[in-house]
Amino acid sequence: MRVLVTGANGQLGRDLIPLLETAGHTVYGATRRAEENPMEITDFASIVAQFERFQPDAVIHAAAHTNVDDCERNPDNAYRVNALGTWNIATIAGEANIPLIYVSTDFVFDGAKRTPYTEYDATNPLNHYGASKLAGEKHVAQLCRKHFIARTSWLFGVHGMNFPRRMLELAQTRKELTVIADQIGSPTHTLDLAGVLVSLLASQHYGTYHVSNSGECSWYQFAQKTLELAGVQGVNVRPIRTATGSPPPAAPPTPSSTTSPSNCKATPCFRTGRQHFRIYWLVPHRFFTTPLLEFVIACSNYPLLYFCLKTKPILSSFWLR
Ligand SMILES: NC(=O)c1ccc[n+]([C@@H]2O[C@H](COP(=O)([O-])OP(=O)(O)OC[C@H]3O[C@@H](n4cnc5c(N)ncnc54)[C@H](OP(=O)(O)O)[C@@H]3O)[C@@H](O)[C@H]2O)c1
Repeated sequence: MRVLVTGANGQLGRDLIPLLETAGHTVYGATRRAEENPMEITDFASIVAQFERFQPDAVIHAAAHTNVDDCERNPDNAYRVNALGTWNIATIAGEANIPLIYVSTDFVFDGAKRTPYTEYDATNPLNHYGASKLAGEKHVAQLCRKHFIARTSWLFGVHGMNFPRRMLELAQTRKELTVIADQIGSPTHTLDLAGVLVSLLASQHYGTYHVSNSGECSWYQFAQKTLELAGVQGVNVRPIRTATGSPPPAAPPTPSSTTSPSNCKATPCFRTGRQHFRIYWLVPHRFFTTPLLEFVIACSNYPLLYFCLKTKPILSSFWLR
């Protein structure tokens, strides 16, 4: 297939493109920063030009304005990129009647539910990032018949800025890190997500999927484990509650619980054959990943509801031990 990937320079895009190529696809990684043929998703004409040039058979739309705090400060820009930009992509993919995978977020939920969210739960975003991504979901569903909406959470990987990398940076200059302990989520490796997206693309099982690594932890536990695995010593990680820390405007505690909008948990779905997944994790001193475990996910042949990545016991032992 000829696959156009938006957000090619993002942390997900940079893991996704080589994986697609390995799977035999011809890939065009679109970025607004390209010297030649840049693609700005808020500019309809620039998308049309790239579609005409590349003639894709499918699109994976990973570009987004992902700075949650900035989305709160500048909601117009959040909606311009995440909603209008997605409308542009979905309109063109819909016109061409080609499959579109839209990468969305657990921030479409309010975090009030005490158990993991499923694809059937009602959305209720609490901030502009979540609301603008949800608007994008609606555009995709309305405009593109062959659509996948893949909601994920707490992405991290080797590329770009993410939470573990930020913690490692801060640990170089501080003796104490205060980290929110009352927000729970499922950290998800970009390579694992990319693998599921590649598999989804090969299917025709369109619909909405929750795609996160199984297991859960708080930001505090995530920070602790990051420093531990990176071999960082002499830095105290202190847990704080959202209400007593300096919560960013984009991550208010929910009225009825101490969990954050990011407590969506994994029910990644896929159903054709068997998939091999690797669990990646940090190794000491450098932020790169290495395969620690490889195992087979048995997929059901069930008609589409969902299947679970059978990673929970293994990841849980990392997070919660
Ligand atoms: N990061 C997370 O924890 C997380 C969690 C849940 C869901 N998601 C979703 O997963 C997807 C991938 O996230 P990520 O972490 O890979 O994000 P990222 O590293 O911030 O990358 C996003 C990419 O989108 C591009 N982009 C932003 N605005 C654009 C515009 N107007 N026109 C064209 N390109 C634009 C950026 O381009 P530049 O490189 O030029 O800035 C960047 O390369 C996003 O849809 C995000 O909403 C992320």
